[in-house]
Amino acid sequence: MINAVDIIFGLCWGDEGKGKISNALSSKYDYVCRWNGGPNAGHTVYLNGKKYKTHVIPSGIFHNKKSIIGPNCVINIDKFFDEIEYLSKEGFDTSLIKVSPKTHIITERHIQYDLKFLKPKLGTTGQGIAPCYSDKALRIGKLAKDYLDKKYIWNGELYGDILCEGAQSFWLDLNYGDYPYVTSSETLPYSACSLGFSPKKIRDIIGVAKIYDTKSGVDPLFPESLWLDEELNKVIDLGKEYGTTTGRKRLVNWLNFNRLLDAVRISGTNKLIINKCDILEELNIFKIRLDNELGPNFIKFNDFDNMKEYISRELKTYCDVVFSGDKENI
Ligand code: IMO
Ligand code: MG
Repeated sequence: MINAVDIIFGLCWGDEGKGKISNALSSKYDYVCRWNGGPNAGHTVYLNGKKYKTHVIPSGIFHNKKSIIGPNCVINIDKFFDEIEYLSKEGFDTSLIKVSPKTHIITERHIQYDLKFLKPKLGTTGQGIAPCYSDKALRIGKLAKDYLDKKYIWNGELYGDILCEGAQSFWLDLNYGDYPYVTSSETLPYSACSLGFSPKKIRDIIGVAKIYDTKSGVDPLFPESLWLDEELNKVIDLGKEYGTTTGRKRLVNWLNFNRLLDAVRISGTNKLIINKCDILEELNIFKIRLDNELGPNFIKFNDFDNMKEYISRELKTYCDVVFSGDKENI
């Protein structure tokens, strides 16, 4: 029987440090599961001072936990086995990795279509994500059960305490994000139930944000003019804002606080972790934006204590806020 489900997910535009938080909590659970996305995600994890990067395999693998890739995920078989080989060489027990029989397979045709038509227009990760989900919706997709050895196929079992590790984030969600500048899966906690549990089992919804916003790929909320901002360029450099999956420099903007409030409220986040606070502390610049779109309203705080106080107060009715510092790339 399932005891309880906790869900970690991103509240912004991806790259908030979900992997880091998931890795920190994984050891308390029986299963760690991914419910959405595929190799477009890039999760960075530090274990005993060593850096590991994963794309589809949830971070339970670093703690000897059953690591499940759910039916609403998509996988690239070659990349999946590359990741298994890498983790196995690093000494992790890859027999714990299981894939839903209904997970969809990304093919070379999906990648080529993405690279030719979507990446140039939308700045996708070029991993074939949208064409694969599109074939799924057309009911012509290829299923993992027909392509993977039985030993990798998940029997659908979940019991005890479950941690769900989100990929992408609130504002990249296919339903809630700024369509069409989104990904092709559902990134909010509601969608974790696709793993096969009732919403009644959800205990904690742990939202992860950063103290400033970043975006990889095209988005009108992150105009090219941001590249010219001297202060934001300092954030990119000190925060090492380069993509784990693509290596691209990320566009950075000050925290869109109204968007964060909306994401917390709609998702039901009851615990909020805000990462990378040390970057602003080191730069001694403390700003947030107050418009949902690109309006003129900012608040500039004198110091980080003032900023923390404001954020915690405004979010008090929804969640507890933890401010975390970590200079490393996420
Ligand atoms: P993690 O899990 C940041 C962005 C892409 C693009 C849009 C659509 O590491 O936070 P896609 O390839 O999914 O069709 O691209 O979504 N994107 C991400 N941005 N982090 C991610 O994952 C992302 N996955 C997709 O840059 O704008
Ligand atoms: Mg990433």
